[in-house]
Amino acid sequence: MNSRDSEHMIAELHEKEGYETTTDFKVADLILINTCSVRERPVHKLFSELGGFNKHKKPSAKIGVCGCTASHLGEEIIKKAPYVNFVLGARNVSKISEVLHKDKAVEIDINYDESEFAFKDFRSSPFKGFINISIGCDKACTFCIVPKTRGDEISIPDALVVQEAQKMVDAGAKEIFLLGQNVNNYGRRFSGEHEKVNFTELLRRLSKIEELQRIRFTSPHPFHMDDEFLEEFASNPKVCKSMHMPLQSGSTKVLKDMKRGYSKEWFLNRAKKLRDICPEATISTDIIVGFPGESDEDFEETIAVMKEVKFDQVFSFKYSPRPHTEAEAFTNIVDSEVASDRLSYLQALNNEMIDEKHAKLLGNVYHIYFEDLHRDGEHVAGRSDNNIVVRVKGREELLGKFANVKITAIGRTILTGEIIA
Ligand code: 5AD
Ligand code: SF4
Repeated sequence: MNSRDSEHMIAELHEKEGYETTTDFKVADLILINTCSVRERPVHKLFSELGGFNKHKKPSAKIGVCGCTASHLGEEIIKKAPYVNFVLGARNVSKISEVLHKDKAVEIDINYDESEFAFKDFRSSPFKGFINISIGCDKACTFCIVPKTRGDEISIPDALVVQEAQKMVDAGAKEIFLLGQNVNNYGRRFSGEHEKVNFTELLRRLSKIEELQRIRFTSPHPFHMDDEFLEEFASNPKVCKSMHMPLQSGSTKVLKDMKRGYSKEWFLNRAKKLRDICPEATISTDIIVGFPGESDEDFEETIAVMKEVKFDQVFSFKYSPRPHTEAEAFTNIVDSEVASDRLSYLQALNNEMIDEKHAKLLGNVYHIYFEDLHRDGEHVAGRSDNNIVVRVKGREELLGKFANVKITAIGRTILTGEIIA
């Protein structure tokens, strides 16, 4: 989401102000920091990074702080770092050229309607097409700051989404990546009157674009994984067979305290249905450990769900209390060391499970779409339909192309392969 917001700002600055991008901040006229605030650590990092930029930048260069931390800290950022020229919230990126010309501007209205702006003609790569299908989040998970930084949920009309996908395909993309905080809640509310199209129907409409070969999306919410959606996922050949199912906790009691809207049983039922109707799909998840009130038994339940679903990837986090959230006021805090131990245990198990899965992939052949050039300039990385990431020897010419790749070496995060005829 932040990457796409950055693309939006770059597009706007390029079009209206004539800016070009540089990777060397010492020569930059403008330094933008696009921030996350979902956990506390990146917020601390912001202020140390800011200090470094301020010390070594060109004296005339401006600094802008954008994104979710900007949304919730607002002018506090300028109080703490007075050399910051403007603060621009995650829901206000369309105002970038406006704030650029107003010193000490703070634009952080979290319900500003930016749905019109969602499509700006800037892509960091013609082969990778991020498309916002909704902005904001209507849920109220008690640990999460996002609804307070990105505001209420608004879906982008499907005709616009389809038009944007067509444009990207015409420019060379074979794969698109739909973005939203809860993609499968798509269509509940639009800006103004609009035909109620749900996510399943949106997938059907997008797959009619002939030259489009792959559709990915993130993140769906387990609560909205109804049969219609899972069946479309399984049967639509253009929908990539990799699903992110953010579990957060395997204990129904903790899920209730988190206000996630589903129980352990519902989650397991959905995961089982998915495995039954689409055995080739990979499933990834997010888990928080040490949420207030999480007992050893609750944590054991999370581990049991991990073992039962056999997730292909687990992104795990130690609970971090966030301002403006309900859980911030919870008093049944889990001891920090206990939470760290749980996280280490869970991550060791995840590594074990990944190593076991990867070992079975050696020698397999996957149809890979190449989309990233490796820093060394000698390798390109791509993905299989079911999100297996493989690196092969090659250069730019491979980007945006498909090839069959045989896995020749196994690593934990990336596999290495060879293109075969
Ligand atoms: N503490 C720890 N992890 C969090 N996440 C969201 N809020 C918090 C928090 N306060 C995690 C969730 C979410 C992912 C993007 O970040 O697992 O799915
Ligand atoms: Fe945060 Fe919950 Fe919304 Fe996801 S669904 S962004 S975790 S409030």
